[in-house]
Amino acid sequence: MDDGMGVSHLICDTCDRRFEPAEVSLTCPDCGPDRGTLTVHYPYEEIARTFTPDLLRARRDNSHWRYREILPVAGRPAVLHPRVGWTPLYAMPVLADSFGVERLWIKDDGLNPSASFKDRASSVGVARALAQGCKTITAASTGNAASSLSLFAACAGMRAVIFVPESAPAAKLAQLLIFGAEVLMVRGSYDQAFDLCLATAQERGWYCRNTAVNPYLGEGKKTAALEICEQLDFSVPDAVVVAVGDGCIIGGLAKGFADLVRLGFVDRVPRLYGVQAQGASPLVAAFDKGEQVAGHWPRATTCADSICVGRPRDHIKALRAVRETGGAMVAVEDEAIRAAMRRLARQAGVFAEPAGATGFAGLDHLKSRQLLTKNDKVVVLVTGNGLKDVTTARQAVSAQPHLVDANLAAVGRLLDSRERS
Ligand SMILES: Cc1ncc(COP(=O)(O)O)c(C=O)c1O
Ligand SMILES: [Zn+2]
Repeated sequence: MDDGMGVSHLICDTCDRRFEPAEVSLTCPDCGPDRGTLTVHYPYEEIARTFTPDLLRARRDNSHWRYREILPVAGRPAVLHPRVGWTPLYAMPVLADSFGVERLWIKDDGLNPSASFKDRASSVGVARALAQGCKTITAASTGNAASSLSLFAACAGMRAVIFVPESAPAAKLAQLLIFGAEVLMVRGSYDQAFDLCLATAQERGWYCRNTAVNPYLGEGKKTAALEICEQLDFSVPDAVVVAVGDGCIIGGLAKGFADLVRLGFVDRVPRLYGVQAQGASPLVAAFDKGEQVAGHWPRATTCADSICVGRPRDHIKALRAVRETGGAMVAVEDEAIRAAMRRLARQAGVFAEPAGATGFAGLDHLKSRQLLTKNDKVVVLVTGNGLKDVTTARQAVSAQPHLVDANLAAVGRLLDSRERS
């Protein structure tokens, strides 16, 4: 039995209580929004009878809707943007050698329609809101989830009301406004914006696209794991590395790999490694202490705005994702993030925003702690495009442009002096 959108039931991440889809909309009422996040289940056995690697090989759909049988939607939503997901997985043999691992791939999710990984989740959220006849959808976001939601809401002709912290970078704000969202810029942190959004959605009966508390969004995020497997010809790598803020992406990846095992596509899952910025690393602290839940850091700070999160909302799933797969949570300094932005751009041709480069920034650290070894096949996710935050990109390089008069002699003099020095 399913709910007309393919879902059979949901299970609370803390108390294991099982819910019918119609019984619950966001989190477990017994455990509350902080601990009662839910995991979505499908009738896997029934689905696996027809949904097979061969069916996927023959499917001409270069988007993440190619996995619609295990997404909580009724078919492929027609009005939404046609090109979400199915992002490239680049093999990087030279970088693999320099990090001392057997194989290294970079999956560039900055190439999604709104230029971040978040499109995977927003597309599913808007598809569900549409199916439920909702007219207004809302989210709080460090920027990317919001710009992504604004894009898909615009495609669906839906009103989007977005709560962002004052610190959101200009490009992300520009995206919100150009897609036609109503933007509430909260004088406060992302964590405060999140609480305000949640309360307003409840009060007004709006559809809530908020990370972690809406269990269906992680289903969109899991599609990156499905793609990695399919792009590696239905095998899995040894390790997957990704930046972590709230923990939803890494939780979604874990769900994707678990679904692949349930369907019998693969027989093991990769180790998942989450990388946080040192100044905003409550999940690393919890992981190091062996805790199941993260503490709150009231003054999180990092140059990677998308992961500047002091109170990770998907902490339970994120910590479980790394523990149950034999991975880890590690932290890197902002300087390592800026160095990773330069290296990714110059050695892989991928321009990432700071959070987008943070997974890659963790590689040196993982290697030096021998969490990655020479036999490992590793996938690193780049989660957001560098054009999202050009201010930090400019700060990541010391070089400045050379101002020159518009004549050949001046250009010649400048080049001569540079070549002499
Ligand atoms: C570019 C980018 N990378 C990584 C993340 C972290 O994802 P999560 O908050 O689900 O851990 C985000 C979240 O906003 C993001 O926008
Ligand atoms: Zn519960």
